Amino acid sequence: MCGIVGYIGPRDATPIILNGLKRLEYRGYDSAGLAVLQNGKIEVRRDAGKLSRLEELLRESPIVGAPGIGHTRWATHGAPSVQNAHPHLGQSGDVVVVHNGIVENFLELRDELRAEGTIFRSETDTETIVHLVEHHQSAGLSLIEAARRTFQQIKGANVIVLMSAREPEKIIAARLGNAGGIVVGFGDGEMFAASDIPAILEHTRKVLFLESRQVATITCQGVTIETLEGKPVQPQVSNVPWDPVAAEKGAYRHFMQKEIHEQARSLTDTLAGRVEFDTARIRLPELNLDAALARRINKIYITACGTAAYAGMVGKLLIEKIARIPTEMDIGSEFRYRDPIIDENTVVLAISQSGETADTLAAMEEGRRKGAVIWSIVNAIGSQAMRIADGYISMQTGPEIGVASTKAFTAPLVDQYMLAILLADLRGTLDDKTRHALVADLRLIPNLAGRTLSREADVELVAHSLKDIRDCLYLGRGINMPIAYEGALKLKEISYVHAEAYPAGEMKHGPIALIDENMPVVALAPKDPWYEKMVSQIQQAKARGGKVIAVATDGDELTASMADHVLWIPETPWMLSPVITVLPLQLLAYHIAAIRGLDVDQPRNLAKSVTVE
Ligand code: BG6
Repeated sequence: MCGIVGYIGPRDATPIILNGLKRLEYRGYDSAGLAVLQNGKIEVRRDAGKLSRLEELLRESPIVGAPGIGHTRWATHGAPSVQNAHPHLGQSGDVVVVHNGIVENFLELRDELRAEGTIFRSETDTETIVHLVEHHQSAGLSLIEAARRTFQQIKGANVIVLMSAREPEKIIAARLGNAGGIVVGFGDGEMFAASDIPAILEHTRKVLFLESRQVATITCQGVTIETLEGKPVQPQVSNVPWDPVAAEKGAYRHFMQKEIHEQARSLTDTLAGRVEFDTARIRLPELNLDAALARRINKIYITACGTAAYAGMVGKLLIEKIARIPTEMDIGSEFRYRDPIIDENTVVLAISQSGETADTLAAMEEGRRKGAVIWSIVNAIGSQAMRIADGYISMQTGPEIGVASTKAFTAPLVDQYMLAILLADLRGTLDDKTRHALVADLRLIPNLAGRTLSREADVELVAHSLKDIRDCLYLGRGINMPIAYEGALKLKEISYVHAEAYPAGEMKHGPIALIDENMPVVALAPKDPWYEKMVSQIQQAKARGGKVIAVATDGDELTASMADHVLWIPETPWMLSPVITVLPLQLLAYHIAAIRGLDVDQPRNLAKSVTVE
């Protein structure tokens, strides 16, 4: 996905847009650009590479003015280059556009426009949009009419922001389907538009989120919303509970390191207002779950992508164990096409940090199409996955900027644990004693996380010993099997090491062939019901000369006697142990990548959330 920022008001748009793009660079960072109306003419500056290249260009040839629109790109059509970077100017130089998504019918539209003599200067689908708008303007339509006509012609999920020199008093923004959101921000005599809240948080917390197939006309005084067909829509304004500091790195070298260390607080926040420790009751008001619904649920499908999928794998185990409801975990991109068996008593629970991942949203729509109850666990306030669900749980961790997800992994583990208790409680299948014990364990988690994170220096030492590895095998069992997958994903995402994870019991059926002195094995062996089994897996790996890095519970001398390195964690209730066992693996991957001098927050080829299929 890409990042978009727009500004209209009395101030110079350039610095406002640049700062906003900096806060969105996690969305895509292979090229960037901005356009500003300067002395009645649209001036464009854009370059391939990081935002810093654009800043350099603007120092050499500055532009001052307003309104303005800007973009940071994650390429889909056309390689990262100056020609393909956004914004794209029309032939008349009057209209300029930035875009997120894919114009699925751009080839035929391009041929039609070419047949009329339009000259294309890039390989992008985006350029089709600006030429179409100019085409309709030349037929006498106003900017908004030409824009709406164009938006009705293009196919696919798209977010578009454009402006024109001939109508400088407005910016047009549109959302067509699930290609990431567009949020409009209200200032004092000025207005903002952005792909995500962190870009405008320093200016305002008063926002509205465009729904799909809506167009916003934004002026200095405010905004009018209409459908593509021109029907007026009443804006739904809301206030964002996040503070601007949340979008800052603070004293940390990277957002990822900051977000890893925020987990003691984010885990406290995800419990906030939801747990009555004295009565051992869970409250999840936005889920709209009552006893009648809880009792008729016959199946739960958890669906998600990337790191969120591994959180779902833990959730499956927790919901089946505590609430005894059959639960499956399905990767979003598979679930949407596999014709799952669903009826009105089925729940589809989507997990998504951004709430804008196209495959996860499509899986939700597949569930909707088949009559399921749709729930979501989401971090991004006002995102699509939060708005289209029948009920949701907000992760309440604040903005997550590092592309590799960390605090938005541990929060949904706790959210699913709370959900499982609430379901069992409402179904009347949980006795008081067990419920009190399960709820009491929640109180321990923020402190256990803090204690584990305070051992960062020990993890960094182990990272130094692994800084030159090429491959790595992660092993786990039971409730910590998904943590092996998440640990391996973190190492892949940010240090580009070929890391593979396996259910440890499967090792002897194949991957054990990989083990030798060059294949480090990260083994999750906390004191949980699968501990003895993991000890024998570690012995098998050691017997083949493998170098073992074990995640083990304080005082576990047996594991310490076998392993080459131990990443210690405090004693933790087993059903919540994944929240703690993952922390040293997040730190390990972080430090290996940092020691290698890699761009931890913006790893190559990745984006914070992928809004295209
Ligand atoms: C990827 C991100 O693009 O999407 C991962 O790089 C993330 O970090 C995955 O886990 C799913 O994103 P989300 O926002 O749906 O949880």
